[in-house]
Amino acid sequence: MYLTREEERMIDGEYGEWVAKAIRLLVKLGELNNAERLVEIKRAHLSGVSYKTVGDAALDLLRDMVSDGVKLKIYTTINPAGMDLLNWDEMDIPPDFAEKQKELIRLYIKLGAKPALTCAPYIFENKPDFGERVAFAESSAVVYVNSLIGARTNRHGSLDALSSAIIGKVPLMGLLLKENRYGNVFVDVNNEKFSESDFGLLGILVGNELSPSDIPIFRFKRKPSNWRLRLLGAALAASGAIAMFHAVGITPEAKTLEVAQGDRELEDKFVIDISDLKTVADTYFSKIDSPDAVFIGCPHASLDEIREIGMLLRGKKIRDGVRFWIFTSRYILEQVKNEPIYNILENAGVKIFADTCMVVAPIEEIGIRKVWTNGSKAAWYIPKFAGRKIQVEVKPISEIISMIAE
Ligand code: F3S
Repeated sequence: MYLTREEERMIDGEYGEWVAKAIRLLVKLGELNNAERLVEIKRAHLSGVSYKTVGDAALDLLRDMVSDGVKLKIYTTINPAGMDLLNWDEMDIPPDFAEKQKELIRLYIKLGAKPALTCAPYIFENKPDFGERVAFAESSAVVYVNSLIGARTNRHGSLDALSSAIIGKVPLMGLLLKENRYGNVFVDVNNEKFSESDFGLLGILVGNELSPSDIPIFRFKRKPSNWRLRLLGAALAASGAIAMFHAVGITPEAKTLEVAQGDRELEDKFVIDISDLKTVADTYFSKIDSPDAVFIGCPHASLDEIREIGMLLRGKKIRDGVRFWIFTSRYILEQVKNEPIYNILENAGVKIFADTCMVVAPIEEIGIRKVWTNGSKAAWYIPKFAGRKIQVEVKPISEIISMIAE
C-alpha cells in the first residue's frame, strides 16, 4: 500500500503512540482489502457507546486515550448510549449503570466527539454529501448514507472508525470506489399491501439470503416512504451485514436498473410478495398476546414518523401496564416538544426518550419480557442482547395502536 512520507512518520510514532496505533490498524485493514492508499475524510460516526455493549474494557481504553491527550482530528458523532442522559431514572436504569454510562460519554466528549447519541446522525447532526467519503460505524447508518444519500462508507467496526477519526483518513477500498457500488441481486417486490413493518421483514428475508458483499437492487411496485426504506435498510444490515442497496427510480445511484447494475452481472433474482413475509415473522420472531412494552424508533424515529404515530393516537389512551416508548435523537425530541403532537402523545401515555434505544439500553434489567415493535432490526437484536430473556413480535404501528389503545 502506498504511504506518504507523513504517513510513514505517523507509523514510526512521530505523532505519538495513539496515532501510530490508529494508522497501523487502518493500513492493515487496507492491505487485507487491496487498498492502494489512504484517503482523507472530514467526518466519522462511532459505535461502541453504550456501557451495556462495551463494558469496562471500553472505559479503560478511553480513560487511557484521554489521559494521553488524544484528540479526534475530524468531525465525529457518536451512537446511542445505554440510557437517556437526562431522564434515565424514568427508564428505571440502575444508578451504578448510569454512573458508568455518564463517564463513557464524558470521555468521548473529551476526545472531541459530538454527543449526538443517535444512530440516525444523517438526519441532522452528521449528514454527508452525495459522493463524500466518510467512516461510519453504525450499520443502519452505513446502509442509509450509502443507499439513500449516495455518500460512501464501508461498514466500519468501532475500532477502525475510531482510528479513522483519530487520523482523519480511511483506506481507499470497498464501497468508497464507484466500481464496487453496483448491484448484483435483483429483488422484484410487490409491496402494494405492505405495512411499514413489512419492510423490515423484507430486509430480514433478503439479508438472510445474501452475503455482505452483495448489493441488492429493489424494484418496488409502489414507491415506499423514507421511513419504510430506513426500516428495510436497518434489517438488511442486521440479518445479512449488507452495507448498501439500490431502489430503482428512488435511490440516487439507481435511476434505472441498468444504472444500478453497471457492469456487474446479476447473480440472483427474487420475486417477493406479502405472503413471503409471514414465514419470516414465524421463523425468526415470537408471537405475543399481551406485551409489557411497545418500542418504536429503530432506527431512531424522525419527526415525520413521530407525527404519524401521534396522529394515530389522537384522543386515545394506552392500556395500563404497557410501556409505550419512542426512541429518537435529542435534536428531534426538542423539535417534537414544540409541536401540538407532543401533548397528544403525552396524554396517550407515550414516553419519548433520546440518546438511547431499546437494544442498547439494559431493558432486561427493568422487568421487560414481552415486546411489540415495528422495527425488525430491534426484533432481531433485542433477544440476543438481552440474554434471550425477552420475546419480541413485529407488528405495524397501526395494528399495535388498535390493540393497546382506546
Ligand atoms: Fe438504532 Fe438501536 Fe436500532 S442504535 S438502528 S435504534 S438497534
